[in-house]
Amino acid sequence: MKNDNISFHGGKVSRSERYSVLGQKGIAVWMTGLSASGKSTIAVETEKVLVSMGKAVYRLDGDNLRHGLNSDLGFSEEDRFENIRRAAEVCSLFVDAGLIVLASFISPLASMRKLAREKIGDGFIEVYVKADPETCEKRDPKGLYKKARAGEITDFTGVTAPYEVPLSPDLVLDTEKYSIDQCVRILVDKILQLSALRQRNGLYRYERHKFRQE
Ligand code: ADX
Repeated sequence: MKNDNISFHGGKVSRSERYSVLGQKGIAVWMTGLSASGKSTIAVETEKVLVSMGKAVYRLDGDNLRHGLNSDLGFSEEDRFENIRRAAEVCSLFVDAGLIVLASFISPLASMRKLAREKIGDGFIEVYVKADPETCEKRDPKGLYKKARAGEITDFTGVTAPYEVPLSPDLVLDTEKYSIDQCVRILVDKILQLSALRQRNGLYRYERHKFRQE
């Protein structure tokens, strides 16, 4: 429940000053797709490449967050909304801190992705990790599709719960057409463009100068 007796404490350091310190803009790469579409695999490899380039990156993964922050949540529509709401809040803080966040959540409904986009604002991109339900079911690395078919798991995305295909994602990574390496290369290029600070006469350069003088 919202408490009226709290206020917001602003600091003396701006977002652009934080970005200058890190030499990059914070961005949120929101990867949506079915279970076994390749979201987490792409995120893990992308993180490795970017860190080797000296970038500050952090992965937020649906499975992982469900071990801690979201361990009280299941897979009903209501719980998934809450899962995405919390994840988007965390993601938004990390973007504000200056990190390149690789967020991989099924986020099955367009309204869930909209919630994340609106919460995070500037720097958010929606990446659709594309693979047909039949392909994901064939891959089934965790055996979850099999369990869902056997009725051992309820509300399973793509089997007994819906997945709304993104209609206008910022990027599509088709893991049936392209290898993981190819997808990672495409994604890394996009991230480097979006997270680059302006080099000349831009706000970031100006603020860095001001920051150094103080
Ligand atoms: S989301 O729908 O709320 O965005 P999230 O990405 O956090 O889902 O978690 C999905 C992961 O949880 C899957 O990769 C899978 O390993 C696991 N999982 C367990 N039960 C389900 C289920 N009923 N539907 C989908 N994924 C499930």
